[in-house]
Amino acid sequence: MKSIPPSLGRAALRALLKERSPLGPLKVMAKHVGRFFQIPLPGFRPYVVFGPEANRKVLVTERGKLLWRNTDPVTDLLRRGVLIVDGEEHDRYRALMEPPLHPSQLPAYTDMMIRQTERVASTWQDGQIVDMLVESRKIALLIIMQALFSKDVWDDLPRIWDPILKAIAYISPGAWILWRNIPRPGYKKHLQTLDDYLYQIIASRRANVERSTLDVQPDLLQHLLDAGLTDDLIRDQMLTMLIAGHDTSTALLAWTFALLGEHPEVFSTLTAEVIAREKSPLLDQVIKESLRLYPPIHIGNRRVAEEIHFDEGSVPAGERLFYSIYLTHRDPEIWENPDSFCPERFAHGRKTPPMSYVPFGGGPRACIGAAFGQAEARVVLAHLLRNYQFQFTNHPIHPHMGATLEPRPGVMMRVKRRQVHR
Ligand code: HEM
Repeated sequence: MKSIPPSLGRAALRALLKERSPLGPLKVMAKHVGRFFQIPLPGFRPYVVFGPEANRKVLVTERGKLLWRNTDPVTDLLRRGVLIVDGEEHDRYRALMEPPLHPSQLPAYTDMMIRQTERVASTWQDGQIVDMLVESRKIALLIIMQALFSKDVWDDLPRIWDPILKAIAYISPGAWILWRNIPRPGYKKHLQTLDDYLYQIIASRRANVERSTLDVQPDLLQHLLDAGLTDDLIRDQMLTMLIAGHDTSTALLAWTFALLGEHPEVFSTLTAEVIAREKSPLLDQVIKESLRLYPPIHIGNRRVAEEIHFDEGSVPAGERLFYSIYLTHRDPEIWENPDSFCPERFAHGRKTPPMSYVPFGGGPRACIGAAFGQAEARVVLAHLLRNYQFQFTNHPIHPHMGATLEPRPGVMMRVKRRQVHR
């Protein structure tokens, strides 16, 4: 690993101030040091790797040397959720939760996804300016809770909104990174409300023994109950799926609106295509490009159990290792004009080298909801573009590193229902 000259520290600081996000300094490190470096913060010195070779090692060939379970608020909150645990325990939960997310099941969710989208959109007044970051979150929450737990949360949104935002803030990067045991007041009550809400859903399903025979397809909650998991373990899986399954989709939808707002020509071509055709190839390309430029999960977090070697250096056991999806997606050695929004780079027939496009991770622990999340984005965006006009209000947007990469301060759009469509 190259040593880090002091001038680089200054360049990193300038990038931090200019981009208002740690992504700036990460790009500076990547540019000047390469695909393997260590973040030089006092008390927090994770290694960062990126690029296809490193991704393949971390996600596939040498994943056995790495643990998902870490010491951080994500682990504290999600406890024994499928995203946290390792080994056989992980494989067991994952196998239980895969059936309702299998691509063959996805068409069954389409009507529900449209219904939930329309419920949110129908609250908009013509000419009103709405924040598509907020509206996307409402849509994504309604969809995930209905799809996985058959729970209609429409009436409960006011009650669970703040607790969910608090849970997300709890696991977002913050001062705890440098001071692991920093007091964190203001979360307990909200996290308890969220837990109570989930335990209540579990209890009422347990009480309703008829339900599994009434439904044609058992939902994810039913799979967990039928497998005999305890309430605590079911809570861990539900909270994991609730957070991982909606905060990501929220970011994807909101970033897509942001990028379309910033590129009005693409926006109008896309809208015309979506109105004219049942299936829009450009919509797929726009979603892919949005996931490339602003991958909602921009970094994968591991603890090194056994020393792991990369071409540029080694990471000893006990250290924290990040594989950077964001830096892989912005690597000029892989992508032409990596910082430009260019959906046609994903046009039919064009291939990206393996492990260079990893918005859903890769290998056996790739995102369990990858197909669901992409189908959801297609359905929600197509419905909104067909039925509403969106006018971007041209305000500056920057990426904020929360639990996901979020467009801040939001994506303000003036909305109007279309009179005629199709
Ligand atoms: C557009 C949306 C989404 C994106 C960009 C995304 C991204 C990712 C990424 C990058 C990983 C792997 C992280 C790593 O290697 O450390 C992951 C894992 C995961 N995602 Fe997603 N995700 C999305 C949607 C969803 C949805 C809809 C669900 C649930 C229905 C979900 C549930 C999970 C779970 C449970 C894991 C952990 C899997 C395991 O460790 O076996 N995600 N996601």
